[in-house]
Amino acid sequence: MQPITTRLLLWYDSHHRTLPWRISPRERLAGITADPYRIWLSEIMLQQTTVEAVKSYFRVFIEKWPTVVDLAAASQDDVLRAWAGLGYYSRARNLKKCADIICAEYSGHFPSDLAILKSLPGIGDYTAAAIASIAFDLPMAVVDGNVERVITRLYALATPLPFAKPEIRTYMQALTPDERSGDFAQAMMDLGATICTPRRPACVICPLNDNCQALKTTDPEFFPVKAPK
Ligand code: ADE
Repeated sequence: MQPITTRLLLWYDSHHRTLPWRISPRERLAGITADPYRIWLSEIMLQQTTVEAVKSYFRVFIEKWPTVVDLAAASQDDVLRAWAGLGYYSRARNLKKCADIICAEYSGHFPSDLAILKSLPGIGDYTAAAIASIAFDLPMAVVDGNVERVITRLYALATPLPFAKPEIRTYMQALTPDERSGDFAQAMMDLGATICTPRRPACVICPLNDNCQALKTTDPEFFPVKAPK
C-alpha cells in the first residue's frame, strides 16, 4: 500500500463521518458487511443532493422499504411522493425501474460487475464505481468532485479541468488499495468535504500534509485549475 493510502485509512478510522448508510471501520472489523441496497439508494440520492439533505430522506426510505423487494412492491406514485423535495425526479422513476429489474432478473441481489451495474437505469460510470467499491469492496477508482480536488492538490496537477480527469483517475486508481477500497473511497470524500475544502483548507490538521505537492510548492487553493470559459 502506498504511504498516502495507509495514512488516509488510519485517519479515517478515527475521523470518518457517521452517515446512516455507512458501515463504520469498527463494524467492518467485526464482520458486518455493507448492504448493496442501502449503498445504491444513498448513491442515487447523493447524485445531485448534499449529504445533509439526503440523510433524512434516506432514513424515511429505509423505514418504508427496508429491502429492494419492498421497494419493487411499492407503487411508482408512493416512491415519487417519498422523493418529493429531493428534486431531479427522473432519479425516483429510475430508482423504481432499477428495483423492479433487480427483483425480476437478479433475484433481488445487486450485481457487483461494473458493466452490469452500468446497464441498470439511473446508474452511470460514477455510481457503478461507487457501488462496486463501497458495497463490494472492489478496487475501483471512485472520483467525485471532492476526490478531484484532493488529487489535483496532492500532485499539484497543472492540467485544467475537465482535461485533467483521465490523469486524476489514474492517480486515484494507483492509490486505491485491494483491501478496504470502499473505506478508502469514502475517506477521500470525507477528507475533501471536511479538510481539503475548496476555500481555506485546513492543511495544518490534514493527515496528508506531508504528501501534498500543492502545499509544498504553491497554494492548495489554486487547485483544481479550471479551463477558462
Ligand atoms: N457523496 C457521494 N457518495 C458519498 C458517500 N458514500 N459518502 C459521502 N459523500 C458521498
